[in-house]
Amino acid sequence: MSTTTRGSWNSKLGFILAASGSAIGLGNIVFFSSNAYQYGGGAFYLPYFFALFVLGLPIMMLEFGLGTMTGKSFPLALRQVSGRKGEFLGWWAIISALFITSYYIALLGWAFGMMLGAFNGLFEPGVTAPFAPFAEPSPEPSAMIFFFDLIASWKTIIFILIIWSLNMLILWRGTSTIEKVVRVFVPLMWLFMICLVIRGATLEGGFNGIMYLFTPDFSGIADPTVWKGAFSQMFFSLSLGLGTMTAYASYLPKDSDQINNSMLVSFLNCGFEFIAGLAIFSILFVFALNPAGTTLSLSFFVIPQGIGAISEYAWVVKIIGFAFFLLLVVAGLTSSISLIEGPASALIDKLKISRAKALAMIAIPGFIGSILFGLPTIVDPDLINNGTLGLNLLDITDHWVFGYALLVVGFVQTVLMGWVLGADKLRAALNKHSKIKLGKWYEILIKFIAPALLLGIIVLSLLQEEGLYGHDFELAGMNWLAIFIPIFWLVVSIGGAAYLTTRE
Ligand code: PFF
Repeated sequence: MSTTTRGSWNSKLGFILAASGSAIGLGNIVFFSSNAYQYGGGAFYLPYFFALFVLGLPIMMLEFGLGTMTGKSFPLALRQVSGRKGEFLGWWAIISALFITSYYIALLGWAFGMMLGAFNGLFEPGVTAPFAPFAEPSPEPSAMIFFFDLIASWKTIIFILIIWSLNMLILWRGTSTIEKVVRVFVPLMWLFMICLVIRGATLEGGFNGIMYLFTPDFSGIADPTVWKGAFSQMFFSLSLGLGTMTAYASYLPKDSDQINNSMLVSFLNCGFEFIAGLAIFSILFVFALNPAGTTLSLSFFVIPQGIGAISEYAWVVKIIGFAFFLLLVVAGLTSSISLIEGPASALIDKLKISRAKALAMIAIPGFIGSILFGLPTIVDPDLINNGTLGLNLLDITDHWVFGYALLVVGFVQTVLMGWVLGADKLRAALNKHSKIKLGKWYEILIKFIAPALLLGIIVLSLLQEEGLYGHDFELAGMNWLAIFIPIFWLVVSIGGAAYLTTRE
């Protein structure tokens, strides 16, 4: 198949916008701030920057390089450079990406519902809290009640359907529409985020939140969970380990400067994440809100609560509330399209099917998956589980797939590229069209340092697992789900990958 029938970017800018749109998403806003809080604010930065320079950036070069070297999507690209075992890894990553896509889109459906909440009394002015950073957990915020009502309502299914349909609409024609959409969406989300950070930092007391993010606290540095948190956050945030970046890069001309592209995309992503952290922490501190709880609590009810107190004018509060969730939806959409494009291009390349068929093969199970994350709360109308069953399902899937799959793919692909293809060949291919040349250190990093670090952290975190799921966990008679979900994921991903790899 020629590159043109597979699709290609019209310009380098189009590619940079699409790849940075993929990287910047819920991970930068929702997950980053709760991770940074959970792992001690300033204490998170050391592992975070380490993860960026030692793993994130070099592995992005690897994934981009793989795409342009082969002109193929992830599984077939890996097969070309490392044989069948590479293809197997590729499919395993692609199927795992589908699990993530399902809950990612469920989250976007919720964000969409919260956005519409601006018209339903979600954001009301006048919620005030005394300034005492993190002193007491805030009382049950009204935004929390709104959120649980939302996820317990059938309307959520419609919101999820809307988000899936938007994804299909954008992906229908492949790169040409993706490029058009990211040209509008990516600048828009930067604009929103810059406005939010200016508002947050100029609130009285907002600066304290910023200081919290900058105050180093080295007490957590010896804890492997902090490092694992930083590594998986970095992989997820940069969209690595799921085949996405290789698929996007495969639509570029062969002579693209992938070292430069990787640096641009990584710095845009981490810059955005940094600004998002500032915005969110300044709002949290001004209103003495306590973000403890699930990963989602911060964006879905703590921040909305804070927004309620930003201004005494109802219309200002409503606009900011609406804009915050619109930001989540827009940033999330430019990521979810990439999460779907990776598998779509892999299926098109392998099975030689039409784009429509490939998209249907993904959207049908994906949509069912997305409603499963919403349904348990819906079939539990009295909210016996406090409406948290769906959240727990999501949390378990996230714990395994987000927490491990990306790092495992990262580990195996560095071994394949470093040892089977040869790190020298990878370095030569990257250097060939780049202004900045990678030194011998890059080979050492890909061959030894990155795989050793990744393997080390995977093994250490597995050893730290308590039972089959790392937290205290009560699912009102449904604890079996904690065992069932990881097993289901492993069976489907390994079985599916074996099937697709052996198919000619
Ligand atoms: N990077 C996206 C985010 O930060 O929200 C999520 C993501 C997209 C992860 C695409 C992986 C991926 F392949």
